[in-house]
Amino acid sequence: MASKVEIQAMKKALKLAVYGKRNTFPNPMVGAVILDKDGNHAGDGFHRKCGAPHAEVVAISSAGDASSGGTMVVTLEPCCHRGRTGPCTDEIIRAGILRVVIAMIDPDPRVNGEGIRKLEAAGIEVETGLFSDEARTLNKVYFHYLDTSRSWVTLKIALSLDGRTAAADGSSKWISCEASRRLVHRKRSSVQAIMTGAGTVRDDDPELTVRLADIPPGGQPVRIVVSSTGDFGDSRNIFKAPGKTIIAVPEGVSARLTEFSRMSGVEIWEFPPDSSTPGFNLVPLFERTAAAGIGEILCEAGSGLSTQLLKDRLVKSVSIFTAPVILGGEGRQAFEQLGIDTIKNAVRLKNVSSHRSGSDFLTEGEVVYRSD
Ligand SMILES: NC(=O)c1ccc[n+]([C@@H]2O[C@H](COP(=O)([O-])OP(=O)(O)OC[C@H]3O[C@@H](n4cnc5c(N)ncnc54)[C@H](OP(=O)(O)O)[C@@H]3O)[C@@H](O)[C@H]2O)c1
Repeated sequence: MASKVEIQAMKKALKLAVYGKRNTFPNPMVGAVILDKDGNHAGDGFHRKCGAPHAEVVAISSAGDASSGGTMVVTLEPCCHRGRTGPCTDEIIRAGILRVVIAMIDPDPRVNGEGIRKLEAAGIEVETGLFSDEARTLNKVYFHYLDTSRSWVTLKIALSLDGRTAAADGSSKWISCEASRRLVHRKRSSVQAIMTGAGTVRDDDPELTVRLADIPPGGQPVRIVVSSTGDFGDSRNIFKAPGKTIIAVPEGVSARLTEFSRMSGVEIWEFPPDSSTPGFNLVPLFERTAAAGIGEILCEAGSGLSTQLLKDRLVKSVSIFTAPVILGGEGRQAFEQLGIDTIKNAVRLKNVSSHRSGSDFLTEGEVVYRSD
């Protein structure tokens, strides 16, 4: 059973792991703490970015000789294979660590319990399962990627009290209060990409950038605009903003986009047209974003794209701001028809949190689709 100091060390390791957010994908975020043979804190570390040393190696080098005879407390099973860096299990064995406390097994098929077996074969005592729920939540984007090879999509919507996302003329600036909009900038700064649909580009001409005093260290998140036509009206902000913009369109419309393809920072991604959707099947888009190193996408779209994403079961979580505003039945809806014929087929949320955000209310949770 884990001791009090090991429990404290795991709490610290979970906090440390978060420092790698946005930079470790397609690797997980991992934190590690070393306790010396008397149970005192001797060193710690986290995985800073993909390709950089793993948390275990950073922690061992920060603890130095104090690792010998000590305990490692780590948020994920140490790897036992050679990837961009060497196996962490070898480093742990070499450092003379006698006990390893692990929050959860790494489901990566190259690890999946093998790391633990290697440590145990070397005579190291291993305990698994301390704060496993927290460790699973920490790396939900990584686990989703292992399962599906796709990016994690969070749908963010600002709603009026009567469930509208814009007034009848398409104007939606601003439904939510200033505090909520600041929070959205913080959310943008924690993801690698922000997505919207051509309808929002035409109606709102958004920039979709992080506008905070501190721009995220890796620069502005990538912007992704989904369109079936390549028609953006006179909107320009999203293509001129700092950073990269990807325009995702069905094959055959890129000729209309020559002007954009010449702009610096604009990339055009084409996908086979699909007659069962407004343009193309969106699944390959999220496989391509994941392959391009984009773990998490914040989608800030209107009802057209939001509906398509929910129908295709591509939305993994939602962040919905409800503001004390009423827009009436003539306002724009958040979703078009989703094919929900009866209440038992409703899309529901799990792990729900709700709290005040200025004068608004923010509800967040993971989406549960009916057959999940
Ligand atoms: N309150 C809020 O949180 C919020 C957030 C964003 C937007 N809005 C409001 O929403 C309104 C715009 O709604 P909207 O439904 O027109 O915009 P949208 O959802 O942003 O964009 C819809 C467009 O996305 C493209 N699209 C969707 N699925 C596609 C697929 N499978 N393949 C290719 N393209 C696909 C289509 O582009 P094409 O047009 O090229 O066919 C479609 O017309 C505006 O009034 C805006 O102010 C509100």
